[in-house]
Amino acid sequence: MSDSSPRKIIAVLGGTGKEGRGLAYRWAKAGHQILIGSRTPEKAQGAAADLTGLLGGKAAIRGTSNSEAARRADIVVLTVPYAAHRATLESVSSDLAGKILVDVTVPLVPPKVAKVQMPPAGSAAQEAREILGEGVQVTSAFQNISHEHLLGNEAIECDVLVTGTSKEARAETLGLVRDAGLVGWDAGPIENSVVVEGMTSILIGINREYGGSRAGIRITGIG
Ligand SMILES: NC(=O)c1ccc[n+]([C@@H]2O[C@H](COP(=O)([O-])OP(=O)(O)OC[C@H]3O[C@@H](n4cnc5c(N)ncnc54)[C@H](OP(=O)(O)O)[C@@H]3O)[C@@H](O)[C@H]2O)c1
Repeated sequence: MSDSSPRKIIAVLGGTGKEGRGLAYRWAKAGHQILIGSRTPEKAQGAAADLTGLLGGKAAIRGTSNSEAARRADIVVLTVPYAAHRATLESVSSDLAGKILVDVTVPLVPPKVAKVQMPPAGSAAQEAREILGEGVQVTSAFQNISHEHLLGNEAIECDVLVTGTSKEARAETLGLVRDAGLVGWDAGPIENSVVVEGMTSILIGINREYGGSRAGIRITGIG
């Protein structure tokens, strides 16, 4: 992990699902210790065993409840559908004090998932901030990365915009972006997450319109 951030314990809440499983795979491959969180610990243990198998047994991945994963981790990543966002955050809020919560949630409103429909707080990440209060730093990242990329090893043609409640929390999250093999950009305060979350609906629409499944974004013109 020479160019990687120091080894951390990362909880992935909802890591039994598509996006969380892919991120957990990449961070485990980079040498981090992973706690997959679930409402059903046995399901998380199954996902951990699958990922450990994919990595040839050379990985530190364990499955447990969302609450235990959040309590034991240095940094906590949330990858659940928007319908489960508030309930999941409320169930772990006391385990998050003093930590960073990286919110990957996109507030899609089925069936019109290709239409931007933000919640009253402005975005899912701002809602997380309201639910968790001042004692938790919230960042927002990875919303534009399709899970279809993550379990593979090829270069991903999509950048990650990171917003968050402090520069330090954004910098820490950008370290995780690099460790996942992706290019990340500090995209400013958490209020800017509305654009990144909304972009996912646009990418879903572009995939539908042009027959793809991996549309992404890239920042150009720097350096
Ligand atoms: N899929 C993508 O390509 C992608 C890309 C970018 C961002 N995202 C965002 O990432 C988040 C996760 O997406 P996903 O595709 O990984 O979702 P998913 O596979 O449908 O679900 C992820 C996990 O969330 C938990 N969950 C599902 N329904 C729940 C409910 N009603 N209450 C509580 N927990 C529930 C489940 O974990 P347990 O049953 O183990 O508790 C499930 O395995 C979403 O907000 C999505 O918009 C997804």
